[in-house]
Amino acid sequence: MTSVLEFRGVNASYDGAVVLQDVTFAIDDGETVGLVGRNGAGKSTALLSVYAVPTVTGDIAIDGKIISGRRYEPAALGVCLVPQGKRILPNLTVTENLHLGRAAKRSGIWNIDTVFDLFPNLARGAKRSGIALSGGEQQMLAIGRALMANPRLLMLDEPTEGLAPVIIDQLVEALRKVQSGGTSLLLVEQRIGMIQQLATRYLALRKGLLVSEGGISDLDKRDVQEMIAL
Ligand SMILES: Nc1ncnc2c1ncn2[C@@H]1O[C@H](COP(=O)(O)OP(=O)(O)O)[C@@H](O)[C@H]1O
Ligand SMILES: [Mg+2]
Repeated sequence: MTSVLEFRGVNASYDGAVVLQDVTFAIDDGETVGLVGRNGAGKSTALLSVYAVPTVTGDIAIDGKIISGRRYEPAALGVCLVPQGKRILPNLTVTENLHLGRAAKRSGIWNIDTVFDLFPNLARGAKRSGIALSGGEQQMLAIGRALMANPRLLMLDEPTEGLAPVIIDQLVEALRKVQSGGTSLLLVEQRIGMIQQLATRYLALRKGLLVSEGGISDLDKRDVQEMIAL
């Protein structure tokens, strides 16, 4: 099977400061993988490497084809990112924010109607501006906007950061529906419980190295937890 996303010996740095070293992994079509590790381990940098935000060496492939390092290319190929920290456009309405997600011009099951079905809160607030939304609603909007591109792989960077447990439960439910639509997920989370509810595999970074990976049940093991020091 071809992997939807593959890192082969990826190194990433900012202004010469090395952050990721020799990171190799693959995500298969339709699977959900959790990416864990302490603050500063390099999780966000790994996701941003797909878009060549840091300086990257080594190969990153989408559908087995090495990408060129042009920043718009991954989204056009169906690899989309929901960045850390609920990045929405506060002065645009919910609907306007969602339409921005269509820039990649990919077709599929996700459109304004299906995103509103997924997140009824957004449907109720369709005409509100982003700034008027709660933190949870902003996160839903950021996810909804990424879905509008009909991604094959959706990368989520700490989507539950700062959200109340009841909202997190709603997000888990919604992401299960995204999974059943066939989209692969790469889920960066400090919250192991969130990963355990959604993923079948995990990858663990420590100080820029991939130090552990395995089936999701291994995350319960003390030696694994000590190794990744969560
Ligand atoms: N834009 C940047 N410029 C310089 N250093 C950065 C930048 N972004 C992150 N770093 C550094 O890279 C390391 C990994 O950061 P990051 O990928 O954000 O970790 P995580 O997401 O696991 O918390 C940290 O030491 C951080 O300070
Ligand atoms: Mg981060």
